[in-house]
Amino acid sequence: MKTYDLRSDTITRPSLGMRKAMMRADVGDDVYGEDPTVNKLQEMAAALTGKKDALFVSSGSMGNLISIFLHAGSGKEVLTHKDSHIIHHELSSASALAGSALIGLDGERGKLSPETIEKALRPDIYYMPKSGMIEIENTIGGVYYRGDELKAIFEFARKKGLPVHMDGARLFNASEASGMSIKKIASYANSVTFCLSKGLGAPVGSLLCGSSKFIKHARRIRKMLGGGTRQAGIIAAAGIYALEHNVERLKDDRENAMKIAETLSSCSWARIDPAEVETNILFFGTKGRDPEGIVDQLKRKGILCGADGKNTIRMVTSLAVPSEDIEDVCKILKDFKPVKSR
Ligand SMILES: Cc1ncc(COP(=O)(O)O)c(C=O)c1O
Repeated sequence: MKTYDLRSDTITRPSLGMRKAMMRADVGDDVYGEDPTVNKLQEMAAALTGKKDALFVSSGSMGNLISIFLHAGSGKEVLTHKDSHIIHHELSSASALAGSALIGLDGERGKLSPETIEKALRPDIYYMPKSGMIEIENTIGGVYYRGDELKAIFEFARKKGLPVHMDGARLFNASEASGMSIKKIASYANSVTFCLSKGLGAPVGSLLCGSSKFIKHARRIRKMLGGGTRQAGIIAAAGIYALEHNVERLKDDRENAMKIAETLSSCSWARIDPAEVETNILFFGTKGRDPEGIVDQLKRKGILCGADGKNTIRMVTSLAVPSEDIEDVCKILKDFKPVKSR
């Protein structure tokens, strides 16, 4: 039976073209700053985001952690949304390693606003913790920040003297869907990470982008975390290939997510408003049925997806499920008749 893997966009595998680019990569020792392919990727990332410099890091988690080390650090608070990746999926590394406390705030559809942030700011009293930074995730749960929302947060942060880090694991999806350039989006943050290993289809790596001074210090923290690598050009080449070949097709992922959402909206057992789907990630309810049970039954039909623990099911489109296959997925969903699982 053919399977359609909609669990995440992290499951993509490097294409033949990407593997060939990796094989041909020029390499050197990156701890000495001598890997030409890593240097090229970092220059590309800095130019794309409009930042002065960029650093190739092993993962999005490492990029976020380094930014927390540098913007907040020991004894300071990181203000972020309560649904953010740094709160739920990064092992509290902010507190375990950087000494910062993660403060989860409310906000519609995963997004922060100056109003919610303001309520969490600490007064300047010597025995209270200090607010250290703001972290926003874009996209979050597939939802992107509009330009006016980003601008409002960034201007507010500047007034309060707080740096903003953007976890842009899916920054390119945000850009594709919003029509805003990467540079424009990144201009509303002091530092930004984006991942090569999600919808862009590379096997490893993220870029942390910021000012020259920030990246100079980031390089030290990366090494401290054991993230200094040697002939990393082999993997950086995959990143360059991803930026050159896999950005435009993110539109397909958004359109495919929309097709699935529309199909689900016509299924008696599912609940979704397709208008809420903005990029490649969608969530749907199961009208009182056990989501885990539905996930299990769909798996037996060849569709892999995940229950997200909030009574909904998550599906993520990516190059792992090309547009031709989405027609099959929609047909399976239309014909699917859930059996009672509890
Ligand atoms: C929004 C977000 N941020 C950060 C990360 C962390 O990326 P990595 O798995 O490369 O550490 C992920 C991973 O899925 C993510 O979805």
